[in-house]
Amino acid sequence: MIIAGARPNFMKIAPVMRALKEEKDFFNTYLVHTGQHYDIQMSDVFFKELHIPKPNISLGIGSASHTQQTAKIMLAFEKILEKKKPDILIVVGDVNSTMACSLVAAKMGVKIAHVEAGLRSKDRTMPEEINRIVTDGLSDYLFVSEQSGMDNLLSEGVDKKKMFYVGNVMIDTLISNLPRIQKSSILEDLGLAKKEPYAVLTLHRPSNVDSDKALSEIYAILKEVSQKTRIIYPIHPRTKKMLQKHKFSDRFERMQNLTMIGPLGYINFMKLVQNANFVLTDSGGIQEETTVLKVPCLTMRENTERPATIDVGTNVLV
Ligand code: UD1
Repeated sequence: MIIAGARPNFMKIAPVMRALKEEKDFFNTYLVHTGQHYDIQMSDVFFKELHIPKPNISLGIGSASHTQQTAKIMLAFEKILEKKKPDILIVVGDVNSTMACSLVAAKMGVKIAHVEAGLRSKDRTMPEEINRIVTDGLSDYLFVSEQSGMDNLLSEGVDKKKMFYVGNVMIDTLISNLPRIQKSSILEDLGLAKKEPYAVLTLHRPSNVDSDKALSEIYAILKEVSQKTRIIYPIHPRTKKMLQKHKFSDRFERMQNLTMIGPLGYINFMKLVQNANFVLTDSGGIQEETTVLKVPCLTMRENTERPATIDVGTNVLV
């Protein structure tokens, strides 16, 4: 049984689902979509583009506070697990769905495999850090994407026999889709065809967008950057809501050289990143994708759980 819940999960389950399908004599797979992300552009488009099979069941959980969202997923998922009794549960990444389903499985004695285990920002104010620590603590198989993950797990006393340094499935998705990414027309669609330099911006972390103070700082930074280069900004639904709540929408929309667009599908987004002069982001995964694409990335955070991106040199914390 495989869990997917939120946007960054979908590119990670795609190659795992494909690999399991190739071994269909050994594995029956059952895909559960928790519905943590539910908009077409946050979910459906990724299933279509990445040829992920339709979920066997969608729990339709939707948005709520962290506690409510986690609790709702647990309640709904317990029923599925009771009925289906899988031999193993595969969870990916660090979203609330990852942790919620792991907790249920652990309580019911179902073995857990965590893909992208061991990453640590050492910042417990991040909801994702709590999700990572809990999920890893409960997992029987820990599949690790970079050396820091192995080091973190060892220092936490995890049994070496449970740990597997396998690399990064999100990057498997990126590499296998490069020919299709090449064919995207997003640059022309945005009027960027004439090799005009531009930056790509993504922002959604509470620490950057949930207060007047944070949004004022971000606004000042973007104003300065936009005087030197055009910025393309596919806005996350939660950030859009925060701009409205804190009455920043107009100011952002009026900023010259800042083009705000809705969330993009996978293929268009990666094409935009691949051809950017640089990326400004607070995302986790984009730090890794820019490393592989050799695009400079300025990560607007205090820390990163993906230090390999800094060691390689494409990523800088700002
Ligand atoms: C979640 C993950 C985060 C990941 C991000 C990527 C957790 C704790 N966080 O954060 O690690 O980087 O996804 O996108 O699991 N919303 C919509 N439509 C959707 C989905 C969300 O409008 O399809 C809105 C919701 O109404 C809500 C907000 O976005 O107000 C937050 O959604 P939620 O899933 O709780 O967390 P994210 O901030 O998206």
